[in-house]
Amino acid sequence: MTFNPPSIPSARPAVTAALMQETGLDEGILRNLVHRFYDRVRADEVLGPVFAARITDWPTHLERMVAFWSSVALMTGRYHGAPVPAHATLPVTWAHFDRWLDLFRQTATEVCPPAGAAHVIERAERIARSLHMAVEDSACGAGMTPSLR
Ligand code: HEM
Repeated sequence: MTFNPPSIPSARPAVTAALMQETGLDEGILRNLVHRFYDRVRADEVLGPVFAARITDWPTHLERMVAFWSSVALMTGRYHGAPVPAHATLPVTWAHFDRWLDLFRQTATEVCPPAGAAHVIERAERIARSLHMAVEDSACGAGMTPSLR
């Protein structure tokens, strides 16, 4: 079988090439997804203020998020950050994550081919659940013995 390397840099070129083929995703689609999604987030009355309070340098945030989705969706290894501490102390509940996921699903469905949309939505749902757990843990004092009363 011939191996065609992906058109984007990747720490795991064979895996990335296979994922691109399976999902129809590429770096350009992910870039479009991230930019359109955060346009919606910034205009959203629930999520907009939470982001506005933390993010001043939007171009840097968007570049980081393209690298994140490239790593998550295509296993390129481009993202080297730490999402959990970035979210643990945000003033959010599951309602915020639910809204985030609604906007993400809408954007992914518009921007990605169907298999690619399903791929990124499944991953976003999983990560949202784990970030929400981190927020909850932090709110009740991470590492502390839970009160049994
Ligand atoms: C309630 C929903 C969410 C809110 C309000 C939120 C808000 C934020 C904010 C304000 C930052 C910037 C933190 C900083 O630089 O100080 C951030 C970063 C980030 N968010 Fe979210 N987020 C949400 C959900 C998600 C979800 C579901 C994902 C993944 C699927 C995600 C992935 C990331 C990543 C990768 C970063 C960059 C972390 C870093 O490397 O510094 N976020 N988010």
